[in-house]
Amino acid sequence: SLKACLFDLDGVIVDTAQYHYIAWRETAQSLGFDLTHAQNELLKGISRMESLDIILAIGNVELDLETKVQLATVKNFRYLELCQQMTPDDVLPGVREFMDSLRSAGIKMGLGSASKNAETILKRIEMLDYLEIIVDGNRITKGKPDPEIFLMGAEDLDVLPEECVVFEDAVAGVQAAKAGGMKAIGVGDPTILTEADFVISTFKSLDLKVIQQLFFAA
Ligand code: BG6
Ligand code: MG
Repeated sequence: SLKACLFDLDGVIVDTAQYHYIAWRETAQSLGFDLTHAQNELLKGISRMESLDIILAIGNVELDLETKVQLATVKNFRYLELCQQMTPDDVLPGVREFMDSLRSAGIKMGLGSASKNAETILKRIEMLDYLEIIVDGNRITKGKPDPEIFLMGAEDLDVLPEECVVFEDAVAGVQAAKAGGMKAIGVGDPTILTEADFVISTFKSLDLKVIQQLFFAA
């Protein structure tokens, strides 16, 4: 039966991709090239340093580690500065209501995010209290699509992978959930999230009963 839900943060609970994009675009421009919206899509679910490597490959730029760490640090300062505009109103439609329904049903909730800023963001949007456990970029050694992040989450919540449903907006995140033996619900475009067990465009109309019927019917 369904015992726990694991949530990605960026693009699932709140739309931070726009701020990551502004900050990374400034990094690219400082190096003399542009970063398109489509290229930014490639960075979803990918760790900060891996994202920088992808951006540098796009611009055909090679840098030493020290310079890369410096660029990533500057980017993160800018990202956090942009995130200060966020308020609890920025929680994506239906997320709070859905989490309330999980809480009432006694289903555990945890976070599985590649971000090292996860707690800061969750506090800003006042969503920290919903999550019993947090697995973030500070804890993992292998990024998505490796299942480590979600397996750690299941272990922290003391449930089995097959008792978990993962909510993800990134292809790499859906792959991580599936590789961990969990059900994956994609949040976004079904033509992109083809490996997900089910795709929703928003949490607005998502009923817990639907999930129970889809995946856990006897
Ligand atoms: C993921 C985002 O959740 O976190 C990525 O989708 C981001 O775009 C990654 O690069 C790491 O985030 P942070 O906050 O540690 O730079
Ligand atoms: Mg995401």
